Amino acid sequence: MYLALLGILWFCPRLKGQENSFTINKIEMKAEPGWEVENGKNLTLKCLVDISTTSKFLSQHEVLFYKDDILLKNVTSWNKEEGFFIQAVRIYDGGNYKCTVILNNKEKTTRDYAVSVKGVPSPRVKVDKTEVMEGSVVAVNCSVPEEKPPIYFIIEKLEMNICKQKKQKQVLDRNYVTMDFPIEERDHVLIFQCQAKISFGTFSEASEFTKSDLVTVRETFSIPSFQITPEGEITEGDPLKLKCTIQVTHMFLEAREIIIQKDREIVAYTKQGTEVTYSTPIARVEHMGNYTCKVESSRISKVNSIFINITELFSKPELLISSNHLDEGGKLDLSCQISGSPLANFTIQKENTTITNSQNFTKRVWVRDSGTYRCLAAIRNVIKESDPVQLSVFEIVSKPRIFRNSKSEVIKGQQFELSCQSINGTPPIRYHLCIMNACKKQQKMYSNEPAKFFERPTATTEYTCVAENHHSQGSVASDVLNVVVIVPVARVNLSILLHEEVESGKEVVLRCSTDEGSWPIHYKFYRHDSAVPFFEKTSNDTHVIWHTLQASKEDEGQYYCLASNRANLHGNIPKSNVITVKVTLAPWMKGLIALFIIGAIIVTLVLVARWYFLKKAKAKQMPVEMSRPGPPLNSNTEKTQSDPNVEANSHSGYNDDIGNHTMKPTNEHKEPDHSNVDVEYTEVEVLTPDLHRAPERKGTETVYSEIRKAENRRLP
Ligand SMILES: *[C@@H]1O[C@H](CO)[C@@H](O)[C@H](O)[C@H]1NC(C)=O
Ligand SMILES: *[C@@H]1O[C@H](CO)[C@@H](O)[C@H](O)[C@H]1NC(C)=O
Ligand SMILES: *[C@@H]1O[C@H](CO)[C@@H](O)[C@H](O)[C@H]1NC(C)=O
Ligand SMILES: *[C@@H]1O[C@H](CO)[C@@H](O)[C@H](O)[C@H]1NC(C)=O
Ligand SMILES: *[C@@H]1O[C@H](CO)[C@@H](O)[C@H](O)[C@H]1NC(C)=O
Ligand SMILES: *[C@@H]1O[C@H](CO)[C@@H](O)[C@H](O)[C@H]1NC(C)=O
Ligand SMILES: *[C@@H]1O[C@H](CO)[C@@H](O)[C@H](O)[C@H]1NC(C)=O
Ligand SMILES: *[C@@H]1O[C@H](CO)[C@@H](O)[C@H](O)[C@H]1NC(C)=O
Ligand SMILES: *[C@@H]1O[C@H](CO)[C@@H](O)[C@H](O)[C@H]1NC(C)=O
Repeated sequence: MYLALLGILWFCPRLKGQENSFTINKIEMKAEPGWEVENGKNLTLKCLVDISTTSKFLSQHEVLFYKDDILLKNVTSWNKEEGFFIQAVRIYDGGNYKCTVILNNKEKTTRDYAVSVKGVPSPRVKVDKTEVMEGSVVAVNCSVPEEKPPIYFIIEKLEMNICKQKKQKQVLDRNYVTMDFPIEERDHVLIFQCQAKISFGTFSEASEFTKSDLVTVRETFSIPSFQITPEGEITEGDPLKLKCTIQVTHMFLEAREIIIQKDREIVAYTKQGTEVTYSTPIARVEHMGNYTCKVESSRISKVNSIFINITELFSKPELLISSNHLDEGGKLDLSCQISGSPLANFTIQKENTTITNSQNFTKRVWVRDSGTYRCLAAIRNVIKESDPVQLSVFEIVSKPRIFRNSKSEVIKGQQFELSCQSINGTPPIRYHLCIMNACKKQQKMYSNEPAKFFERPTATTEYTCVAENHHSQGSVASDVLNVVVIVPVARVNLSILLHEEVESGKEVVLRCSTDEGSWPIHYKFYRHDSAVPFFEKTSNDTHVIWHTLQASKEDEGQYYCLASNRANLHGNIPKSNVITVKVTLAPWMKGLIALFIIGAIIVTLVLVARWYFLKKAKAKQMPVEMSRPGPPLNSNTEKTQSDPNVEANSHSGYNDDIGNHTMKPTNEHKEPDHSNVDVEYTEVEVLTPDLHRAPERKGTETVYSEIRKAENRRLP
């Protein structure tokens, strides 16, 4: 029997392998209880193989289980199904499973079957202590021993189901975490809860919250409490006392500080003991406010606050002033008032100096009374101060002085400084600069220093200034300041009077004139290229005349003149045009020369005749032809007759010249009497175009009328 069985076992595979045919029809997987499984459940994965064979027996084959392509199990089987058991499945068991069957070189594999694990096991939570002091720390341990990291832990601190603090942490290498929670002043009975979250592929699973044991908190010190005296309503003037007290657990030995704060300001504090006091002998409205008492140890701070309301005893006084601006000598009325007019003691002060201890004050004021006034009102021990009141007392401005600092003369077009000053009078003083009652410029001075104005006048101007300040009397005017403006000489013209071509022995008259310029004007006449003027004169006139009595050939030449006054600065002296003077021979001189020649000829003829007759007397037999000198005498007489004609012609030539110069001297044709040393000029009407520009005179004018003694002004 045993032998027969052995025989079958021995032969069957050999027969199958050699003689039978096999085929794998189908291979699939099944999961129990399913592909989606709750965390902690047992899971069985099955591989089902459908094989067709000619043999009566199922052949031996291999079945392989894979998770995420990693071989998990390799079995040799004769069965249609093989199982893979996972006890208490965990998140990390989730994944893609498949199985493969191998039969005689034939192999078939299933598709991937996804196993997902639902839920995370509840974590375990432990606290290191269940009774704790304020300010210390509780360590909370939360673990999920069934699972593998990474795990995300969330721990919350709860009191009365209200979350007071939450901490969370991802742990990569352990399946537990320990987190420290500080215990604060408002913690009493605490409980901690923990949640674990595990992410797997694209999905994430979270556990339930697991709660820890209760943790009771013991107080180190109590919340501070206030004791206020007086109790009830506090009125201004009452003594005020704030006491802040705490109770301390005898076990608590840490250093602590008690502070009383009013708003942000610390008003009292202590570092020892259990109480601190803030007091003021006289409560004032300023003491009203929110007071805070704080107790602080290194980690714990407890606060209490109270609002102190202080009832006003009387309102702030007000200082009434009759006027803030008073003239010197005016009347000042000051009155200190409190609304409701309660009985009070009053003080009126000027710049912290008491001027009266009564409610009202009247005074005639002077400048020194200007200043800041305030009043104090006292009822019982409460003193209140009014807002300050400003008083300004104005002294009337003194008559302003208008002056120039500089002694130098004002030149037309140049700027100069004018000052105006009232020595007395309360600033601010406003100065107005006026010209002929028209006040254009003004300046405000905050002291009694002079106000300065800059002017650029074109002509002599009379200035006044007016000063005014806040004094009610108004403004005061200064005296008139006459500012003389000197006008520089701008253009100079030189002209020749009478004739331009002068007969020798006759007079040469030159006229140097200016169009504008302040007097006195200094004129200089120059000849040729001489650097030295041959004539200089200072005159209060727009022109100056120079003349020479008997012109000689030496007087011929070119002339010009310069004219300047104080306003003409160096190198800015205008120069006139240049005039050319010619000197010709006088007709009587020509006649004299002719007479002299005729005389000489006559003498010669007489001498020749005498010599002839003497010779004839000596030698009575001499030829007569030699005594015939007649014809040359005839030619000489012709010459003397022609000379006056030439002179007449030249006379008419002079007349033309005069016409050209548009001069009409009345002694035009009169032969000047050279024997007489007195020279007489009469009025000459001149129409010189250059003179049209002169602002002082225009058109036809009388140039000069002077009679003067001959001074023999010859050229040097
Ligand atoms: C899971 O399997 C274990 C071991 O085989 C067994 O002891 C346990 O009872 C099973 N649990 C369930 C719920 O079937
Ligand atoms: C399965 O196990 C057998 C016997 O131990 C071995 O011969 C075979 O190579 C294994 N198959 C794989 C795929 O590891
Ligand atoms: C927290 O708990 C885990 C599991 O209970 C334990 O292994 C670990 O040592 C604990 N950690 C601390 C700091 O107590
Ligand atoms: C007083 O101040 C505290 C802290 O600033 C604040 O919490 C409180 O509300 C204030 N009380 C009053 C009455 O203003
Ligand atoms: C203070 O007290 C007075 C009267 O007792 C009251 O009218 C006033 O509103 C209080 N002030 C505050 C800020 O509470
Ligand atoms: C007046 O007194 C106040 C304080 O009392 C002080 O601050 C101020 O400087 C004083 N003024 C003068 C002018 O003395
Ligand atoms: C001060 O003047 C006011 C009016 O301005 C008056 O009512 C008051 O009685 C006066 N006080 C004294 C003490 O004279
Ligand atoms: C005013 O001052 C006097 C003397 O100092 C004092 O007796 C009186 O009580 C004070 N009056 C008031 C209303 O405070
Ligand atoms: C010019 O006038 C001024 C004042 O009118 C006088 O002082 C001065 O002597 C005059 N000069 C001449 C040269 O006449």
